[in-house]
Amino acid sequence: MSAVYIEAPMAAARHSQGGNAVVNLQNVKHAEILRAAGVSKVYPDGNVRALSGVNLAIRRGEYLAIVGPSGSGKSTLLNLLGLLDEPSSGEICFDGQPITRLTQLDRVRARKIGFVFQSFHLLPMLTAVENVQVPMFEGDLGPKQRAAKAAQLLAAVGLEHRAHHLPLRLSVGERQRVAIARALANDPVLLLADEPTGNLDSQSGAEILELFARLHRSAGITLVVITHSAEVAAQAQRVISVRDGRIESDVPSAGRGEQAGSNERLSS
Ligand SMILES: Nc1ncnc2c1ncn2[C@@H]1O[C@H](COP(=O)(O)OP(=O)(O)OP(=O)(O)O)[C@@H](O)[C@H]1O
Ligand SMILES: [Mg+2]
Repeated sequence: MSAVYIEAPMAAARHSQGGNAVVNLQNVKHAEILRAAGVSKVYPDGNVRALSGVNLAIRRGEYLAIVGPSGSGKSTLLNLLGLLDEPSSGEICFDGQPITRLTQLDRVRARKIGFVFQSFHLLPMLTAVENVQVPMFEGDLGPKQRAAKAAQLLAAVGLEHRAHHLPLRLSVGERQRVAIARALANDPVLLLADEPTGNLDSQSGAEILELFARLHRSAGITLVVITHSAEVAAQAQRVISVRDGRIESDVPSAGRGEQAGSNERLSS
């Protein structure tokens, strides 16, 4: 398996991101990558109040776990933090900008944020390496560069030998890893994952955890992970507990969360 240093391509991609439509995001490095201020979410369908008055600031490079009972509002919160949905009231700021003021929100989301869905959402008719390339169509890479980068990302998650398999011909853990490789396709500054180890056996779950730890250390990526697993929460630096749509506690992890280092291999 070829070793992949993720830091260099990520840094290069960040610096090469051109375009002029994104408000003040190109060179700004806010210490806070995300802020939720007085955020509430009411789903019109059934008039469900899923979140109430949530205040939360996430610093660049943090590794944060979100825990809480089923139905407490974790996925709702992650969708809002990932700019996939809008709050009913309150404000979400990404990189210092209220998202309501961002032009081309889709572009910001595609280029800066990776999202790992609990149920993967892989396209069934595309192979692993093709699935990983899907988000790259938002970017500036040509076909050969896209294919090469997707192969590199699959290698980074230990799946180069499954590159041409359709999702149906992959194990659940392998699908999850393809979904993670896809989430990294555009070198996001922020990776959000909704119960990424929830469907996995302990071995596959441990591999994903190791991958997240390496990503955090080597790329300085900001990680926000919803989990029911004590191991995942222990690996994070900070644990937010959500209950009945509110943040019940926000504490440093009792585990071994570590600050970002440099140049660590994703695979070897
Ligand atoms: N699209 C929707 N329309 C209406 N109600 C919704 C919708 N999505 C979620 N809800 C409701 O909002 C509440 C919070 O849901 P959410 O999915 O955020 O919970 P969760 O903490 O992620 O739960 P789980 O651990 O089971 O995934 C629940 O009561 C849920 O039924
Ligand atoms: Mg959920």
